[in-house]
Amino acid sequence: MGPGDFNFLQEMLKRESGLVLTEEKSYLLESRLIPVARKLSLNGIEELVVRAKNGTSPEVKKAIIEAMTTNESFFFRDIKPFDIFREATLPYYLDARQNTRKIKIWCAAASSGQEPYSLAMILNELGPKIAGWNVDILGTDISTDILDKAINGLYTQFEVQRGLPVQNLVKYFDKEDEHWRVKSELRSMVKYREFNLLDSFATLGQFDIVFCRNVLIYFDQETKAQILARIAECMPPDGLLFLGGAETVLGISNLFQPIPKLRGVYEVASKESGPSAFMEHPAVAAFAS
Ligand SMILES: C[S@@+](CC[C@H](N)C(=O)[O-])C[C@H]1O[C@@H](n2cnc3c(N)ncnc32)[C@H](O)[C@@H]1O
Repeated sequence: MGPGDFNFLQEMLKRESGLVLTEEKSYLLESRLIPVARKLSLNGIEELVVRAKNGTSPEVKKAIIEAMTTNESFFFRDIKPFDIFREATLPYYLDARQNTRKIKIWCAAASSGQEPYSLAMILNELGPKIAGWNVDILGTDISTDILDKAINGLYTQFEVQRGLPVQNLVKYFDKEDEHWRVKSELRSMVKYREFNLLDSFATLGQFDIVFCRNVLIYFDQETKAQILARIAECMPPDGLLFLGGAETVLGISNLFQPIPKLRGVYEVASKESGPSAFMEHPAVAAFAS
């Protein structure tokens, strides 16, 4: 691939998806786009670029973007955020939202669904405690291919062996030939929708809890700051943001502040000094101690 094609793809990916592709990662273009060209019966990456450039084939651009996303995910990834969700976050919201009995959760880079289904399993374990509650989980992603997999809830043996406790496998999955399918009761707890984090958030509504894990790492500082600002806008003053282990708001945005001892969890920044209602909740204080 010539430098012209590389520059075109680099700029297009940044503009349309936020992905920053450095020259050291240019090998990824070859390995991921050759199969795309083949699938579309095109003569290699050069022809793919010609089609993407002339603007008459939006499906070519979409296929390029989807191929360049990294969809790595697994159940209860890094475990700690899910412990925090179970032991501290949910007890807080079950008290704080007694009046409305509504909790809204957004997985902003849901990929193949392991993250939202992990949250759904935790919620389901609450049993009678959430009877009569309206808990929405929305999973969004830029890639419709990966969302199809999430909606189908069909995983390989390898995928269900990564992070998923065996008792959850038995309880929430059915074996289908060589695969495991999430049971329909759990699948129905999660709604999925295609959504690009670079687009306006106006149509999304408000969320109490946002998981935006392992996606900001692909963006530059300015894009991260813009996305964090838009997330803050769609959260109430006691909203909570979960980021991935290699991500932070520090040095990028002052709209969120880290919660001491709850690594990877951030609350909407407040003008008030002193601990927030969330930090003062007995379950949160006990978990953090
Ligand atoms: C590495 S996965 C993270 C999955 C999950 N959150 C986790 O932590 O296991 C990153 C996901 O972000 C999605 N993504 C990348 N750029 C995006 C964008 N601009 N808008 C929405 N999703 C995007 C990718 O398609 C991919 O599925």
